[in-house]
Amino acid sequence: MQLFLDSCNLQEVRQIADFGILDGLTTNPSLLGKDGSNLKQIIADICKLVKTSVSVEVIATVYDKMLDEALRLHEIDPEVITVKLPMTWDGLKTCAELAKREIKTNVTLCFSVQQALAASRAGATFVSAFIGRVEDAGSDAGALLGDIRLALDNCHLNETLLLAASIRNAHHVSLSAKIGADIATIPYKVFHGMLAHPLTEKGLDQFLKDASSGGYKI
Ligand code: E4P
Repeated sequence: MQLFLDSCNLQEVRQIADFGILDGLTTNPSLLGKDGSNLKQIIADICKLVKTSVSVEVIATVYDKMLDEALRLHEIDPEVITVKLPMTWDGLKTCAELAKREIKTNVTLCFSVQQALAASRAGATFVSAFIGRVEDAGSDAGALLGDIRLALDNCHLNETLLLAASIRNAHHVSLSAKIGADIATIPYKVFHGMLAHPLTEKGLDQFLKDASSGGYKI
C-alpha cells in the first residue's frame, strides 16, 4: 500500500518527504482554504517537494467550469497534479473527459460501492473512500473499504486505485493495508505518530545502555 500525506502545509510535507517514504499527497478545499493566500504558488511548491502525485480539487460544480478549473490546476505541474473531482454527475463527466486527455483524476467523497464503480467506469485514476467520515456517521469503515475492494476486483476494474481517505488514526492505516487499499492518505499527526511503540523505545534504550556498558563502538 502506498503512503500519501493528507496536508497542504509545506513544513509538514517537507518533513515527511525527508523520511523517504512519501508516495504522494492529497489536499482538499478545506485544507487549502485555511491558507487563502497564493494557492497556485503553494500547490507548485508542494509538487516540487512531492514529485509524484499531488491531488488538488476543483471547486466548481458544473461541468464546463469544472473542466476549466481542472485544466488550470493540471497546468501548474502536469507531471504531478492529479485533479480531484467530487462524486457528482458533473464530476464524473469531467473525470471521463480528463481520462480521454490522459490527465490523472481522483474521484472524492465516495461512500458506497456504486459510487466507486461509477468513478472507475468514468476512468478515475483513484477513488477516495472516506472511512473516517463513515465511522463518524456510525457505519463500519472496514466494510466500506472491503466492499469497494471486492467490487473493483470482481469487475476487473484494476486500473482505478482504491485510496483510503479521511483517516483519523493509526488503526485506520493498518485496516486499510489489511483490506487491500492501494493507497492510504494520512494526516501529518497520524503519519508522524504511527511508528511509535513503547516496546520499540524500551528496546532501543536497553540496546544503547548495554552497548555503552560493554564498550561496544563502531
Ligand atoms: C483526502 O483526500 C480527503 O479530502 C481527506 O482525507 C478528508 O479527511 P477528513 O474527513 O478528515 O476531512
